[in-house]
Amino acid sequence: MKLVVATQNQGKLKEIQKILNLPNIQIVSLADYSDLPQLQEPHQTYVENAREKAKIISQFSQEWTLADDSGLEVLAIDRRPGVFSARYAGKNASDLENNLKLLEELKNIPLEKRQAEFVCCLVLRHSEGREFIAEGRLSGLILDKMQGEQGFGYDPLFYIPDRKKVLADMTPEEKNQISHRRIALEKMKRQLRQL
Ligand code: IMP
Repeated sequence: MKLVVATQNQGKLKEIQKILNLPNIQIVSLADYSDLPQLQEPHQTYVENAREKAKIISQFSQEWTLADDSGLEVLAIDRRPGVFSARYAGKNASDLENNLKLLEELKNIPLEKRQAEFVCCLVLRHSEGREFIAEGRLSGLILDKMQGEQGFGYDPLFYIPDRKKVLADMTPEEKNQISHRRIALEKMKRQLRQL
């Protein structure tokens, strides 16, 4: 069976290939297709965004398709930025701008009240409408300054108490052992085994 991952991001693809690693499943990405339909994330929930991408690409490819949407939820500010994480500081905002905006919003909140979760929602879908959903969450604290050089997005602010470091201080391998994407993918792997 072929599984199309609805991403152009080769890093994400490699990670998904490594974790799913099932015999009989050939995992490809959008890089293997041309004249692709446009993909957007216009909705208010992760699952709607992921579902829309999975629907469009499964209809286009006629293959099982896996799509994701993810974000950061900070409990003290009503789980913002959430589904808007990529554009928190505005359309086309950089990671640095988004991190600085988050620091500004949290400036009067003490560390012990800065609990946060990374969320990853995966939708696996076929063109005729069969669908599976899996969610992964990773808990941590938002620090009051950025640290570390690795990763992307909010990794420099996301501190994991158990490991005593931020995600941006972890190697990709270490982060990928514990990440929200990893947790969601392990759940989805159980569904894929049954197809
Ligand atoms: P996407 O849905 O994977 O494109 O993620 C949306 C946004 O959520 C990203 O642009 C990041 O700002 C944030 N985000 C999601 N996952 C992570 C992560 O593992 N580390 C840091 N930021 C993340």
